Amino acid sequence: MAPTPLIAGNWKMNGLSDEAADRARALAGKAQASPPACAVAVCPPFTALSAVARELQGSPIAAGGQDCHAEASGAYTGSVSAEMLADLGCRYVIVGHSERRHGLGETDHLVRDKAKAALRAGLIPIICVGETLDEREAGNALMVVESQIDGSVPIEGGPVVVAYEPVWAIGTGRVPTLADVGSVHDHIRQRLCVRRGDGASIAILYGGSAKPENAAELLGVEEVGGLLVGGASLDPDSFWAMVETAQP
Ligand code: PGA
Repeated sequence: MAPTPLIAGNWKMNGLSDEAADRARALAGKAQASPPACAVAVCPPFTALSAVARELQGSPIAAGGQDCHAEASGAYTGSVSAEMLADLGCRYVIVGHSERRHGLGETDHLVRDKAKAALRAGLIPIICVGETLDEREAGNALMVVESQIDGSVPIEGGPVVVAYEPVWAIGTGRVPTLADVGSVHDHIRQRLCVRRGDGASIAILYGGSAKPENAAELLGVEEVGGLLVGGASLDPDSFWAMVETAQP
């Protein structure tokens, strides 16, 4: 069965709680005026999550975290567990974003443990993979992404979402050709089907400089099951234009 498309906004480290609540309220208003045909989620900073979750109550827009710790609780100063995110009303959590893999040295193994933690807490992990520019130019994109899928996607434990985000496309305005997006997504689908019984029904999002102007063509690529949107998700009008582009 084809997965329901998901449009997810990654707000990254932007917005104090009032601003985040205003943005969430604007999105909830748009969802009420024109109910989305796809699944929608926003992932604000931890500090704004409860204000955002409050604004999204009763709306079809879900809240998500941007990361979680692999353990449920313990002596991990500064960390937030998947259970804590679930407690705030989150449905999703992003794990393995390239800004954590490359900026903070997170490994496939750690990302898999975080994804398992999310599943344990009843959350849906959005597991990010993607090659660097050097890896793409060396012709290794498929190999890199395959090894990230094998290393970071748990084999069982509940539903997951995968996001293909080429590192060089994030926040740069550069987007791979549609053919390249298609070939990586096909490859991810094949790997997911080899590894998991539900491989055919996992939504595989594209992320990296997605915006209203390119959303339709990206969503038109076979196997692209939604978008993970950074910069363009900070503007409710832009984000909602992308939501309205996504059809089941
Ligand atoms: P971008 O970020 O849309 O600003 O490129 C995407 C992401 O990092 O998830």
